[in-house]
Amino acid sequence: MCGIVGSINHYDIVPDLLEGLGNIEYRGYDSAGIAVLNNNELTTIKRSGKLRNLAQELSLKPLSSHAGIGHTRWATHGKPNETNAHPHSNHDVSVVHNGIIENYLDLRNWLTAEGFRFQSDTDTEVIPHLISLFLEQGLPPQEALNIALKHLDGAFAIGVLFRRDAEHLYAARRGSPLVLGQSDLGLCLGSDTMALTSSVDRVLYLEEGEQARLSRDHFCIIDANGQPIKREMKLFSHQIDSQSKQSHQFYMHKEIHQQADTIRETFYHTQRQVPELPINFKQLDRISIVACGTSYYAAMVAKYWFEQIAKVPVDIDVASEFRYRDPLLSPHGLSIFISQSGETADTLAALRYAKNQGQKILSIVNVAGSTIARESHFSLQTQAGPEVGVASTKAFTAQLAVLAKLALHTGHSRNAMSFSDASHLMQEISTLPGLINMTLGVEDQFKTIGESLKACSNAFFIGRGISYPLALEGALKLKEISYLHAEGFGAGELKHGPIALIEPGVPVFVLAPSDSLLEKTLSNLEEVMARGGRCIVLADQRSCRHLPENVESITLPDCDSRLTPILYAIAVQLIAYHAALAIGTDVDQPRNLAKSVTVE
Ligand code: F6R
Repeated sequence: MCGIVGSINHYDIVPDLLEGLGNIEYRGYDSAGIAVLNNNELTTIKRSGKLRNLAQELSLKPLSSHAGIGHTRWATHGKPNETNAHPHSNHDVSVVHNGIIENYLDLRNWLTAEGFRFQSDTDTEVIPHLISLFLEQGLPPQEALNIALKHLDGAFAIGVLFRRDAEHLYAARRGSPLVLGQSDLGLCLGSDTMALTSSVDRVLYLEEGEQARLSRDHFCIIDANGQPIKREMKLFSHQIDSQSKQSHQFYMHKEIHQQADTIRETFYHTQRQVPELPINFKQLDRISIVACGTSYYAAMVAKYWFEQIAKVPVDIDVASEFRYRDPLLSPHGLSIFISQSGETADTLAALRYAKNQGQKILSIVNVAGSTIARESHFSLQTQAGPEVGVASTKAFTAQLAVLAKLALHTGHSRNAMSFSDASHLMQEISTLPGLINMTLGVEDQFKTIGESLKACSNAFFIGRGISYPLALEGALKLKEISYLHAEGFGAGELKHGPIALIEPGVPVFVLAPSDSLLEKTLSNLEEVMARGGRCIVLADQRSCRHLPENVESITLPDCDSRLTPILYAIAVQLIAYHAALAIGTDVDQPRNLAKSVTVE
C-alpha cells in the first residue's frame, strides 16, 4: 500500500528512483512522483496514474541529482490526482509517506492557524509543514523531524529531504515497513527489498519507532527515544527472477505457470524446516489461524487438514475481525499467521494481539525478513519467489504446500494418522508438481471457458468441504482481475438463499473432485441446472464419470481428495486470468488494489 524509495549517492539517483518505483509499483499505482535536491533547491515532479506517466514526463524534462525520494500511491485520503500525489513538499521539506496519519485533521487546523497553506486533501501534507514549523523555530533538521514525529498518531514510513541539508536523506517508521540498502555507490531506502536497485548488496530493516539518517557513505540509526544505536547491515542478494515476464503477457500468467516449481521448492524446504520447529505438536490443544484475503482461504483449507489429519481443533479468522473481537485463545495453543507480503497491517496487528496473550506465534510468509516474519517466534518461508501480479497465485499454493506439510507433521507427532496413511499422503504430495503441469497442459480449455465469461455480468462458484474455500478463492480471483461480479458459496448453502440468484445462463462453476461429498455436490448441480443455470464442472477423471450428460466440464488429474485444493487453485486462476484477458483489464495491476496492504 503505497511504495516509497529514496537514494543518496555519488552518482545521479533519478534512474535508481525510477527503477525502484517500477519494482514496487504493485504496492499502488494511482500516481507517482519524485523530489530531488539540487543547489539548495527542492524540485518535485508528480503525475497521476501509472509510473509510466511520470517516466514520460521525466524523459521530456530530465532531472538529475545525488539525493532524492520517490513514491507510488494507493490513495487513502484524497482522490488519485496529481495534487494528491506524493512527494508533498513545501519550500524547505519534501516527504514521501506510506501509512495513515490519523490525527491529520487536528494537525491541519493547527498548521493552517500557523500560516501554512495546504494544497492537497491528503493526510500526508501535514508532515512537511509540521517539520517546517520546527525548522522555523531554529531547530536543526534531525531535531525538527524528531519533534514533528512525536505529534503524529497513526502509521507511517517516511522519507524526508531538507532543502538546506544536501548531504543527508532522512527516514522514519512507525507501523509501516522500511528497509535501508547500501551499495558501493551510496545508500538508499525502500518500502521493501524489491525497491532496492540491483547494485544494493547489504540491507537493514528499521525496527518499530526507529529513524535513520543516510549520507552517501554512512548511515546512523536513531531509536524511538532519539538515541543513536549501532546496527550492522546484513548481506543481501536480489531475487532477480521477478524482474522479467519472460514470454508471458502478464506476470500473473508467468506466476501461474511457475507453480509446479514453487510447490516443489516449498515442499522441499518445509520438509526440512518443520521437524526443527521447537513446538510440541503433541501437546497442542488448539490452533488458531489468522490471515486476510487469499491467505485466509489458505487458512480455511488448513482447518480441514489439521482437523482431519491431525485431529486438532482449529479456529480461523480474518485478521481485521480477529484483532477487534477479543478472541479467547487457549494457553497451550499455537497461533499461525499467513501472509504473502509479511506486511499486511491487519495480520500484523492480530499477531501482536496474540503475542501479548502469550501465544506461541508461527508465521508463514513469502517475503523473508518481513515484519510478520521478524515479529513471530518461528517463521516458515514459502518458496514462491517474488510475486508481482497483484492477485495472489503462486504464493497461495505455496502457502497450501507449507500447511499440508505442517498438518502432516502434526498428525504424525500426535499419532493421529497411521504410518501407511502418512506415507501415502507424502507420496501423493510428491506427485503434485507433475499434476500441476498436467493441469496447465489443458490451459486452452480454461481459456475457452474464461473467454466465454466476457458476456456475463455475474458468476458463481460452489464447492463442498475442502472445495468450499476454493469456491471462495475462485470468485475472489475472478472479481479482482476481471471486475465481474462473482460469489463463492458452500454448495449446500445455495438453497438457503443464494439460489435466488440463479437465472437462465448464469455461469456456475461447480468444484466436484471425487471425494466423499461428490454425490451431494452433484445434487446441488442438478438444482442449479433445473433453474437454467449454466453449470461448468471442474471434475477429475473419476468424478467426471458421474456428471449429467452434456454438462460443460474440464477434467483435472486425479489426486488424493485431501490435496485437491492445490490443483483446483490452478484451475480457478486460469479461468479468472483468461476472463480478464478477454475483457481487457490490466491483469497485473487491477483497479483499486495494491499488493501489500499496510493500512487498516
Ligand atoms: C488476492 C490477494 C489478497 C491478499 C491479501 C493478504 O489475490 O492477493 O486478498 O491475499 O491482501 O495479503 P498477504 O498475504 O500479503 O497478507
